[in-house]
Amino acid sequence: MEHLLTLNENPLPPLASVAAEIARHITDINRYPEFYPERLKGIIADWLELPTDAVVVGSGSVGVALQALQASVRPGGGLAYAWRNFDAYPLLAEMAGARAIEVPLLPGGHQDLDALGKAAVDADAVIVCNPHNPTGRLVPADQLKEFIALVPADTLIVLDEAYVEFVDSGDRPDSVEWVREFPNLLVLRTFSKAYGLANMRVGYGVANPVLAQRIGRYQLPFAMGSLPVVAVETSLREQRELEERVEFIVRERDRVAAKLSRSWNVLPSHTNFLWFDEPERTEDIRRALERHGVRARYFEGEGVRLTVGDTDANNAVLQALT
Ligand SMILES: Cc1ncc(COP(=O)(O)O)c(C=O)c1O
Repeated sequence: MEHLLTLNENPLPPLASVAAEIARHITDINRYPEFYPERLKGIIADWLELPTDAVVVGSGSVGVALQALQASVRPGGGLAYAWRNFDAYPLLAEMAGARAIEVPLLPGGHQDLDALGKAAVDADAVIVCNPHNPTGRLVPADQLKEFIALVPADTLIVLDEAYVEFVDSGDRPDSVEWVREFPNLLVLRTFSKAYGLANMRVGYGVANPVLAQRIGRYQLPFAMGSLPVVAVETSLREQRELEERVEFIVRERDRVAAKLSRSWNVLPSHTNFLWFDEPERTEDIRRALERHGVRARYFEGEGVRLTVGDTDANNAVLQALT
């Protein structure tokens, strides 16, 4: 049996109610969805208790990020982010015509906020991924807010919080609140990870209405299907069940991490994946995992990223590596 632990997906099958509602609406697919996804925006805004004009949506949070960069980066303008990072950022830079400014991670997988802050001065946009992919590190709320306050007001700050639901509630930054204070801040979230809807491609951003409107101008017409809207609307009614699923993934993460840490340098994670800070041993890890049918992401000379799976997958990981 193969265990796919490569893409930080939610390992659990869709909620029964979500699958049933999608099935009920399947007969709608010969019709176009809304021209612009106003209903989806409204659903998300109501859930967050925000005005609709503070919300942007897109084809995954990666789609929202692209719209934001298209709206903010001048041709050849700088886009700063830590590197290593989420694979899509260099692609987004290229698509938006930006000049990528890659700031090396500090030892231990931390983002170098001082260096990022300096790079942001001459850049049109800066991305902070928190918690970070692939290291799972979290920038504490006070440091993050201090960083945001220092970025020039005409530089867009994209705060990518794709994994925020896996952060202990006491450590979660109040980032959505901060957009009132910082008109250049876009907070990105997604239904792909905690909500288990990766294939539905729904991401959203929260920003000051002026920025949100600017980003919204890059919304492709008819781009958000109506089945994803059904999936999101139904999921939001099942909030408690989804939270229990997140709690399960977090418990599994901590169980696996505790056991692996006896033999490997696994960083503390605030996400649904683990990072082996093992630049010299990526091949050893690959060989052991492959023997047990586990697929992970290998970054030769850097480390290994392993998604937390279901109990069977996680047990296969422990068998392979302990
Ligand atoms: C840091 C980060 N941001 C964004 C995404 C993309 O998510 P979405 O499916 O919402 O486009 C991912 C997916 O792996 C991610 O790791």
